[in-house]
Amino acid sequence: MIELRNITKTFGETVANDNVSILVEKGTIHAIVGENGAGKSTIMRIAYGFYNADAGEILVDGKAVSIKNPHDAIALGIGMVHQHFMLVDTMTVAENIILGAETGGAATLDLEKANVEIEHLSNELKLGVNPRALIENLSVGAQQRVELLKALYRNAELLILDEPTAVLTPQEVEEFFGILRRMRESGKTIVIITHKLEEVLAISDFVTVMRDGKTVGNVKTSETSAKDLARMIVGRDVLLRVEKTDAQPKENVLSVQNLSVKNAHGEALNDVSFDVKAGEIVGIAGIEGNGQTELVEAIAGLIPTANLSGKIYFEGTNINNFSARKHKELGIAHIPEDRHKRGLLLDFNLAENSMLGVHYRPPVSSGTGLLNNAAINKRAGEIVENFDVRPRNIELSARALSGGNQQKLVIGREFELNPKLLLVSQPTRGVDIGAIEFIHSKLIGLRDSGGAVLLVSAELEEVTALADRLLVIREGKIVGEVDPKTTSTEEIGLMMTGGN
Ligand SMILES: Nc1ncnc2c1ncn2[C@@H]1O[C@H](COP(=O)(O)OP(=O)(O)OP(=O)(O)O)[C@@H](O)[C@H]1O
Ligand SMILES: [Mg+2]
Repeated sequence: MIELRNITKTFGETVANDNVSILVEKGTIHAIVGENGAGKSTIMRIAYGFYNADAGEILVDGKAVSIKNPHDAIALGIGMVHQHFMLVDTMTVAENIILGAETGGAATLDLEKANVEIEHLSNELKLGVNPRALIENLSVGAQQRVELLKALYRNAELLILDEPTAVLTPQEVEEFFGILRRMRESGKTIVIITHKLEEVLAISDFVTVMRDGKTVGNVKTSETSAKDLARMIVGRDVLLRVEKTDAQPKENVLSVQNLSVKNAHGEALNDVSFDVKAGEIVGIAGIEGNGQTELVEAIAGLIPTANLSGKIYFEGTNINNFSARKHKELGIAHIPEDRHKRGLLLDFNLAENSMLGVHYRPPVSSGTGLLNNAAINKRAGEIVENFDVRPRNIELSARALSGGNQQKLVIGREFELNPKLLLVSQPTRGVDIGAIEFIHSKLIGLRDSGGAVLLVSAELEEVTALADRLLVIREGKIVGEVDPKTTSTEEIGLMMTGGN
């Protein structure tokens, strides 16, 4: 279907792709795996004309082609779904699909005709998408399917999916894979970038492994295993399981009492009460959008007090009215779920990003508004080194980092505060298996040294492996507490969905 031959691409001093060759056979699902920053997104963006290679060639159906921009790619039957969706919330599905901005418009404006065609396409693959629905009313999973429809509507024969499952619930992943298999049956070719090895094994026919901008392996999925893939990706054996001793919980650090939070849609969190003690990890399991975001943001001091009721105590002090800055000063760190919205200033460099939250106080600032560059650079240098943020260049803008490296920077910055209480949401979303192992060991290390951790993760496996106690949240309410060591994931899944 497509062959990328000897592709090289540099960004400044970074060699993102170094003589990369990948061959994708027609009618197959081809996975691309590799560490954060290995060059996966870059090589596929080149295939889609989003970037232009410095050297190398692209063949489609065995013929050399020129792909200078996405318009060329679409004309050749290549579609791509980016990790961050590019949909307009206030428009309908059909409007989004026919007004695809990147081709420069000129698509048919016969909306009724488009509605019928999209409905037909959707039925054919059992996508269950209503072309007349507004994007803002759709779940993340449904928005994902709209992105697929967008590519299919433009007659894509090859679909490139960059970490499509990162934002899906386990149930949505199952459905999504069903769709991909049906697409393969109908003759389409799919390239999927993912960090989840069980997904690679479940869905793909072939796997390409990248490391440091190079391809280091091409294997048939049926002839490999998670362990082998992990070793190829990282270059060493990786612990695919969390290892920890029993928790030794001490005094209460966080106490949440009858907390309710209102948002634009109504009651997002409803009368929630629980404690987190020093030396334990309390996990929150639940399908995304059931109040987890509001819960964490309320505790972090990010929700206007007018929108919440109930009491939040930190080490016995009521902190309902404390500012987010005051929270940090007390020793409450927060690793947010959305690193773009809450975690980073993308146009600021790594040094600047690593001092956010402590920028006004010594040693970073003199207290009179003067910044101490030596102290800032030292701090940033330590974070980048200790948390393996690549490349190790604190002058780079956060935007220039790959997704997983952005995440490591945020995590490193919050750990640097030496928190007494860590609020952490989706800590390993988009990070590679080596970094997952590392982040998990850091979280357990913090717990073992007496830190209190509140962990929210949409990955049931992650939250059950790490948490000492697990609370299940559904529709804004805590519906139960379970011991993750003795409760099956099926049982927890039933609590999360209310038995459906
Ligand atoms: N627009 C850009 N400007 C500067 N550097 C970039 C740019 N895009 C990518 N890079 C660099 O190129 C390298 C490869 O990045 P790429 O995004 O392809 O990695 P990736 O394998 O997709 O990683 P991840 O799994 O974290 O998404 C990284 O070192 C990254 O910092
Ligand atoms: Mg990427």
